[in-house]
Amino acid sequence: MQANDTVLIRPAGNILGSLRVPGDKSISHRYAMLAALAPGRSRFENYSPGADCNSTLGCVRALGCSVERDEKGAVLIDGLGPELKAPSAPLDCGNSGSTMRMLSGIVAAQPFVSVMIGDESLSRRPMKRVMEPLRKMGAEITATDDHAPLHISGAHLKGIDYAVPVASAQVKTCLLFSGLLAEGQTTVEEPTRTRDHGELALRAFGAQLTRSRNSVTIAGGQSLHPLEVFIPGDSSSAAFFLCAAAIFPGSNLVIDGVLLNPTRSALLDVLTAMGCKVNMMRVEESHGELAGTISLTSGIRKPIEISGATAALLIDELPVLAAIAPYTAGMLVRDAGELRVKESDRLWAVTQNLRAMQAEVEQNDDGWKIPGAQKLQGAEIESFGDHRIAMAFAIAALRAEGHTLIRNSGCVAISYPGFFSDLEAVLER
Ligand code: S3P
Repeated sequence: MQANDTVLIRPAGNILGSLRVPGDKSISHRYAMLAALAPGRSRFENYSPGADCNSTLGCVRALGCSVERDEKGAVLIDGLGPELKAPSAPLDCGNSGSTMRMLSGIVAAQPFVSVMIGDESLSRRPMKRVMEPLRKMGAEITATDDHAPLHISGAHLKGIDYAVPVASAQVKTCLLFSGLLAEGQTTVEEPTRTRDHGELALRAFGAQLTRSRNSVTIAGGQSLHPLEVFIPGDSSSAAFFLCAAAIFPGSNLVIDGVLLNPTRSALLDVLTAMGCKVNMMRVEESHGELAGTISLTSGIRKPIEISGATAALLIDELPVLAAIAPYTAGMLVRDAGELRVKESDRLWAVTQNLRAMQAEVEQNDDGWKIPGAQKLQGAEIESFGDHRIAMAFAIAALRAEGHTLIRNSGCVAISYPGFFSDLEAVLER
């Protein structure tokens, strides 16, 4: 990734055509981590090409598993079983909060010390949310002011009942992974339902879990079997194209092979409520995950309010929704304070960039109020090193007057290295 790479985005006339997006990031991380714990060879086609999922592969390798690619580019992981090997160097999680938080649940149960490090952005992100429950299970963890680097002395963990204070699928998954490796039962209760890929992935590898309302319980000591699977396209990557199509009257976009897990598809409901026509076709299930084709034609008419549980489910799509909000009939977002502790402070970053494009926007502690029917001006946009901010404003720029420069755009490679060329392919000038 280049450090100072600026991309120029010119206004477009329409969004037409079809595409596929790369494999889902959330699922790729989880499959790779569980493959390490499943003795034998797992094989994943369409594994996310993003740098974040590559950080997970690097950590899995550092923990003693062989990680290779076959001639089709599929990822092959030779899992060791519940006991991994002590890494000879710190586990480098790069920019990936998912890697650090979810893998901490696995290394906390190992009979060795692991040091988990990350880049500058990751080292600013809150880790107490995993440290606290893992300590309750018996791990010894030290950190600087609850931030990475994390020094984790693995232990014989004991299952706990834990109510997670924030809605976080990463924390839930961390604790289900540590629960799998612990003695006794672990129950994780979440304040509102978050994405359920952790639960589905554990089941896909052979573990049993039970769910009751917002709680999930796993018994420790279950053994896993390896998995061969095709990973569906990333719904949060698809969101950029869907939002682009939403703001062009007369657009017509088809996305094939994309994840349709209900805990990840709230955006489709929001776009439908705005007035877009969204269809799902050829829906299939593989190891609990639904995938299929989405088609969208635009038709923006109604203002939108997003809050509560919906804000949690849409957390990764909110930057792009806010970036297109001025072109819609208006948008109110509340209960999205978690955006402040993502790869950047996304509430602030979106506000800054919308204002740079001359948009009117009111920023609150936990959301925005963005009037609709605005005209935006092309501007110089800063990604703040955050992939979703760079991609969100590439979409906003398509309907602006004049061209837009996106500074530090190379960060899109965190989740979607081919983003700009895939976008170019569905633009009509
Ligand atoms: C993710 C959960 C979310 C999301 C992140 C991926 C996951 O984070 O923002 O991009 O794969 O579990 P939180 O768990 O912090 O909400």
